[in-house]
Amino acid sequence: MKIHLSKNNIHKTKSDLLVFTLFANEQLSIDLKKIDKNLNGTIIKTFKENKFKGQYGKVYRFNTHGLVTSKSIVIIGLGDKKEFKSNRCYRAFAAATKEIKSGEKDVGFVFELNSTLMSSSIEGLFQGSYQFNKYKTGENAKTNFELTIFSKSISDRTFSRESRKAIIISKAVHLARDIVNEPPVYLTPAKLAEISEAVAIEGNLAIKVLGKDEIKSAGMNGLYSVSRGSTQPPRFIHFTYTPKDKSKKTVAIVGKGVTFDSGGLCLKPAGSMLTMKMDMAGSAVVVGAMKAIADLKPKYKIHGIIPATENMTGGDAYKPDDVLYALNGKSVEIINTDAEGRIALSDALSYAVNLGVDEIIDLATLTGACIVGLGSYTAGVMGNNEKLINSILKCSENVGEKMWQLPLDDELRKEINSNIADIKNVGSKWGGAITAALFLENFVSDTPWTHIDIAGPAFLEKSNDVYPAGGTGFAVRTLINYLTDNK
Ligand code: BES
Ligand code: MG
Ligand code: ZN
Repeated sequence: MKIHLSKNNIHKTKSDLLVFTLFANEQLSIDLKKIDKNLNGTIIKTFKENKFKGQYGKVYRFNTHGLVTSKSIVIIGLGDKKEFKSNRCYRAFAAATKEIKSGEKDVGFVFELNSTLMSSSIEGLFQGSYQFNKYKTGENAKTNFELTIFSKSISDRTFSRESRKAIIISKAVHLARDIVNEPPVYLTPAKLAEISEAVAIEGNLAIKVLGKDEIKSAGMNGLYSVSRGSTQPPRFIHFTYTPKDKSKKTVAIVGKGVTFDSGGLCLKPAGSMLTMKMDMAGSAVVVGAMKAIADLKPKYKIHGIIPATENMTGGDAYKPDDVLYALNGKSVEIINTDAEGRIALSDALSYAVNLGVDEIIDLATLTGACIVGLGSYTAGVMGNNEKLINSILKCSENVGEKMWQLPLDDELRKEINSNIADIKNVGSKWGGAITAALFLENFVSDTPWTHIDIAGPAFLEKSNDVYPAGGTGFAVRTLINYLTDNK
């Protein structure tokens, strides 16, 4: 998708599709009125018949039958002007791109909004156009349309700054989606490391990758144990971005990278195992975010950390009843081999603590319980530092990625006490998203830490108004917002 700014007269410019917006209860713009007149009043008539007054989320399409220079017109309802912020803007434009049909190559977008909404509009337009066609034989490349933004008020400078940022962020989200959508036969831990190395080289980031033996000798027994049931060797991936000027703080972003979760010896039933290629979505967020960070160059030092492994049932697989010593020396009793994400993450969190970072943010498709509690569209947020949690929640709201805090309950903390080791990897039947976070808490020491359980929104089985089916790239935009805009 290409994008450029135009000051030309829309009534004299040919296009396949021209997109307009309309706030609730606002009059049609002069341009739209003119088009309506040429279409013999069809627009106003249709709106009257359908009682459409710019309600949020409604989209109307008109075929112009050659009566104006654009073949079709799309009008998107934006709802109440006062409530219209960047998050709504993003969603509205992502929904609008779904209206673009495959043959439509020249798409015009009449931008009558405030320039602060330029970036989220363009991000929305890019997001909605995503497709993962790699494995469809005979089908050509992705939808490739050219977008012309018509605006008299936006300067070239503002446009190039905002569109550059939007394109960087969109590419990061698309990369995260691609990595999640790849099948597990392709996306092994080694492949994830290869992709990470390519991102690092392109973006001038430092990267260190540990293989199986190095993971073992480093004392990462959690990650190592999970990997034992697989013939695919694990990887431990560590990116570093260092800003030019001395940074005020150092942040670690840590992503669960289980490239396939069969459940291990506590095998999942077939229906639950399907889609478990997505169990590396946390790591995809880290790779996507690191790619954007390399281009946006924020002022903080940022470590991207990924424990990558499969969770399989091979003859050497780790077992229920096993006890292992994690990197920070704590002993862990294994109750259920399907609670593998927290085991692999434990070492990655200790590693971040050992780096001496000021903050840790982890992202993981950690528990089905989180989906039970919050549904498929909202991530669970937990942690040991209210200030950090609140900042993350604020950023998630800014970008329209829904997140909700769950409590680290003191009584639930007791449930992971073990009879024979320091802790065990599963609590009781209830509050599973929280006991998982309480397990992770053991490995962050007193570093301010936030855990984001993205099990629900990381992957959708059906597309919705904003997201395609499959990987969503959820949380990439929240992280970038936090790491670049946070004061
Ligand atoms: N990867 C799963 C969690 C998951 C489930 C993510 C559904 C996305 C969709 C995780 O490793 C897991 O299996 N968790 C178990 C924990 C249980 C054994 C305590 C679960 O949620 O059932
Ligand atoms: Mg599991
Ligand atoms: Zn898992």
